[in-house]
Amino acid sequence: MRQDIFINDQLNFDDVVQAVKPAAGCLANGGLVAFPTETVYGLGANALDPQAVLKIFEAKGRPADNPLIIHVSSPGQIEPLVSEVPITAHDLIKAFWPGPLTLILPKSKLVPDEVTAGGPTVAIRMPNHPVALALISVSGKPIAAPSANLSGRPSPTTAEHVRQDLDNNLDYLIDAGSTSIGLESTVLDLTTEIPTVLRLGAISAEQIKSIIGQAETLKHTDLAQPVSSPGLKYRHYAPQARVLVVSQITNELVSNYQAQGLKVATINLISESPSDNADFTSVFETPEILAKNLYATLRQADELGMDIILAETVSLPGVSQAVMDRLKRASEE
Ligand code: TXA
Ligand code: MG
Repeated sequence: MRQDIFINDQLNFDDVVQAVKPAAGCLANGGLVAFPTETVYGLGANALDPQAVLKIFEAKGRPADNPLIIHVSSPGQIEPLVSEVPITAHDLIKAFWPGPLTLILPKSKLVPDEVTAGGPTVAIRMPNHPVALALISVSGKPIAAPSANLSGRPSPTTAEHVRQDLDNNLDYLIDAGSTSIGLESTVLDLTTEIPTVLRLGAISAEQIKSIIGQAETLKHTDLAQPVSSPGLKYRHYAPQARVLVVSQITNELVSNYQAQGLKVATINLISESPSDNADFTSVFETPEILAKNLYATLRQADELGMDIILAETVSLPGVSQAVMDRLKRASEE
């Protein structure tokens, strides 16, 4: 049976530490705990316990060849997990941790193959959320955690999303309200000759370049090539409704689909769209607010029985690019 722990933002850090203790103990003993981070909710297990890690794959229905991110509560905790820490990693950690940046580094022998899907590298990040940091540090373990959704569903940005997807297939759920960023972390591979952004997130390639001088971004179309990040090859972030990314949402476009008997949802920024005839309209003030609410909106569109979700292209720098990346992935059949 799942047990829920509720944490409100009035609590100070010591109170949070007390509140998460049972869940941290459970993690240390091989259990599964869903917890909030600043990006999305994660489904955690002791990364050094292969049996515990396998339970994550089972609960999510996740393909075994898709490796997990290890979460730490201090930068020093990465040392035993990796065989080498390049200077670029030190600089990026100083600039962005705790925060939504995952680093791919050569793994040490300590890290089980179950975490890395048998590969030679390991993904690590230090989340910027007091509950996640308290949980990890009290457990005394590095914590492997993918997003706490069923494989193929949009990542959970509230505890309720976790309940919907995983039901009782975990031991504890720590509910601390909605996550602040709403999109998964930026994944940066530091084992390639030129550091490569494998997944866009709230920390942009430009920000990374400003610290380490160079970084390339894996183009969406490069994915036909051998897959450097296995998670990229799966259809991701997907609601049941069909997602279409369009340059502009107009009343005419909406009514064309409605004329085919389809229920139409729209997603766009406030400054752009003039359409007002959709069956479910979501308008956001800024790209950050859109990012924070994107996955909840996709889930809501499904609950409302929408057939098509029209999303308007946003071509601003920063988190908009990560939003567009997720929408494009969701739009693939
Ligand atoms: O924000 C986040 O990163 C959230 C929270 C919970 O921390 N976690 C998350 O995990 O999004 P997940 O498992 O849903 O996505 C991890 C991504 C996958 O695309 C996976 O293939 C990739 O990171 N990845 C993990 N280890 C890797 C490795 N060694 N090499 C390349 N890609 C890796
Ligand atoms: Mg995921």
